[in-house]
Order: sequence, then structure tokens, then C-alpha cells
Amino acid sequence: MNIPDIIIAIDGYSSTGKSSFAKVIAKEFSFLYLDSGALYRGVTLFAIENGLIDDDCTIDVPELEKALETLDVHFGEGGTYIADRCVEQDIRSLAVADKVSPIATVAQVRNYVDRKLREFGSRRRVVMDGRDIGTTVFPDAELKIFMTADTQIRAVRRADEMRAKGMEADIEDVKKNLLERDYIDSHREVSPLSKAADAVELDNTHMTMEDQMVWLRNLISERFGC
Ligand code: DC
Repeated sequence: MNIPDIIIAIDGYSSTGKSSFAKVIAKEFSFLYLDSGALYRGVTLFAIENGLIDDDCTIDVPELEKALETLDVHFGEGGTYIADRCVEQDIRSLAVADKVSPIATVAQVRNYVDRKLREFGSRRRVVMDGRDIGTTVFPDAELKIFMTADTQIRAVRRADEMRAKGMEADIEDVKKNLLERDYIDSHREVSPLSKAADAVELDNTHMTMEDQMVWLRNLISERFGC
């Protein structure tokens, strides 16, 4: 299938399979895949390691804002980097997951990440997943998908994913974290998680990856006549 040079924005709740879906899309259509959550996770890891967020999630906002001026979180070979250190494994820990949503409420952090993401937008043929890609980062994206799935299924999927990477994962802890993040992400003041008016909803609770790809190919051929 030959599809035009577009931006595909995938938003939705935590662990609805956005990044797995986006990676398969990128492979099938030779698009660049960008995981916006990884940048928020990178900033969070930096904040934890530098004492800018404490155990009860109080953030030293002035110091964090100052640090952002020189902080270099970026995508590189094998995933996400802070300067020349690959942090792909570290940013997936529950310790980071616990603190990333509070960090992502800070307006300066959002500006920092948005700036980095928009640098990729000019080239099109990009699929990006997150919480506010279709509403804030790329409101002009030609295709917007909003993903949902049953909470228990999401917790099981995320726990399996963590275990596959050699991490410990208790389903109840994972579920609690997902629900807390969903709440904070959808209630924050700046760019809350919400479905863009022109996004198409995909509930993948009972869908395999191939089901989702069939759904997408149909959508693309209806929308772009290809
Ligand atoms: O997609 P993820 O679970 O890796 O994202 C981690 C957190 O980052 C998520 O709980 C909220 C924040 N995030 C955001 O606020 N906006 C985005 N576009 C992507 C992620």
C-alpha cells in the first residue's frame, strides 16, 4: 500500500498499545517512529537522579526549568539518550513511571519536549504516539487515532512487557500506576490527554495486532483513496 506523506498521530491512555501499534505502522509504511513519552521519561529520570523530584512527587520547578536549558534528551541508536548515555532501559522502570505524569504537568517540560518533537514534523512520513500529539504537537496531522482498551487487559499487557525485559511487575501495582497516570494526564492544566475532535477511536481490547492493521489499512484507503 502506497500512502501519502502524512503525519500519523496516535494518542490515548497508558498502555493501550500505542507504541507497539506505531512501530508496526512505521515498519509497514517506512515511516519514522517517534515515542514522545520516552522524552518525558528521560526528563523524569534526570529529575530523579538529580534530586529535583522527591518521594511524594514535589518538584523543584525553578531548578528543573534551569536544568532544561542544557539538558540533552534525544533519540539515538537503540532508543533514548541523556547526552551520550543510553537510558532506554532505565526510563521504563516503575520508579520512572511513578513520577513521569507529575513531571509532564510542568509547562516548561512540555515546551521542551514539544520543541524536540516538532523538529521532526517538517519531514512528514512520521508516526508519533503520546497524549497530546493530535491536539497540541501536530494539530494538523492528517490522521489521528485515539486508543483505548480495558484496564485489566492494559495492566496485564504492561506487566508482561516489563517481565519480558527482566523487570519485576506486580499486576496490581502496574494497574494502580496506569490509573493514576490516566487521571493526572487527563486532568492537568497544560495539554491534557483528550481525544481530538477529528480523531478516530480505536478500542483494541479484543483485537490482535493484525486486526488493528486491517482496521488501519481500511481507514487509510477510505481516507486517502489508496
Ligand atoms: O507513553 P508513555 O507511557 O511512555 O508516557 C509516559 C508519560 O509521559 C505519560 O504518563 C504522560 C506523559 N506524556 C505526555 O504527557 N504527553 C505525551 N505526548 C506523551 C507522554
